[in-house]
Amino acid sequence: MSKVRTSAWTPDSWRSRPVLQMPQYPDAKALADVEAQLATFPPLVFAGEARNLKKALARVAAGEAFLLQGGDCAESFAEHGANNIRDFFRVLLQMAVVLTYAGALPVVKVGRIAGQFAKPRSSPTETINGVELPSYRGDIVNDFAFTAQARTPDPQRQLMAYRQSAATLNLLRAFATGGFANLGSVHQWMLGFLKDSPQSRRYKELADRISDALNFMRACGLDLESHPELRATDFYTSHEALLLGYEQAFTRVDSTTGDWYATSGHMIWIGDRTRQLDHGHVEYFRGIKNPIGLKCGPSLKP
Ligand code: TRP
Repeated sequence: MSKVRTSAWTPDSWRSRPVLQMPQYPDAKALADVEAQLATFPPLVFAGEARNLKKALARVAAGEAFLLQGGDCAESFAEHGANNIRDFFRVLLQMAVVLTYAGALPVVKVGRIAGQFAKPRSSPTETINGVELPSYRGDIVNDFAFTAQARTPDPQRQLMAYRQSAATLNLLRAFATGGFANLGSVHQWMLGFLKDSPQSRRYKELADRISDALNFMRACGLDLESHPELRATDFYTSHEALLLGYEQAFTRVDSTTGDWYATSGHMIWIGDRTRQLDHGHVEYFRGIKNPIGLKCGPSLKP
């Protein structure tokens, strides 16, 4: 049994614990420089937003709402385009609106995006034709190409990941509040569907019913444009907080409460391979007030 923790928590107290799944950077000074730089950058999310998500998740836990969380296994530097972000958001809206309508309950929308770059690996190295190189750990760490140079962890990639996350989140915020998510556009979100598939027909039926409901309310004299509830949606971000140096750099005190928050995303989770109670990842998570997740698989032995 692990002993009860009595030590004080600090954003860097994870450093005195064993950590798994962290890359071996060849140049400790270059890594420290990048982390120091990241610590001066603006947070990606605001503590108040993380608190709102926590309240929304409490409603989910109470059976008064649904949680919809979706996104790619990992984001990449090569596929950072507006169309990808739009297509992701459109699918999420489609699923959310179907759930909201069919379940007649609010849906809390959480994307696995704007920070989902680091990947846990089953082996620290990969061998092809007798050549052994470090495993690919996601674009925030190294490059997928199977060369020694590409696979060497490069701290500069953390700066890239931060900037990409900021740009992605900026567009998602614009989509969520700037008109794209307007319920009146429910038919436009169909564009991604294969034409005349059974799914597209079923979605169109549902979209027709929502349009009918909106038209009915309008006919009753409701000014739909004056209701932000219909025009906008709350959207939250999440990722696996694997790279603790990066996370530490974005761990900030919320001035309104004095509490520590991870500001790299609204919700972060501990992966299956890094959930040992006496290790660094659990230590890091115990000090932050964000809603947090624990991803468990059947594969990990206790
Ligand atoms: N604001 C509500 C919500 O987020 C209704 C809403 C607006 C909505 N746009 C949406 C629901 C898009 C689902 C999808 O739930």
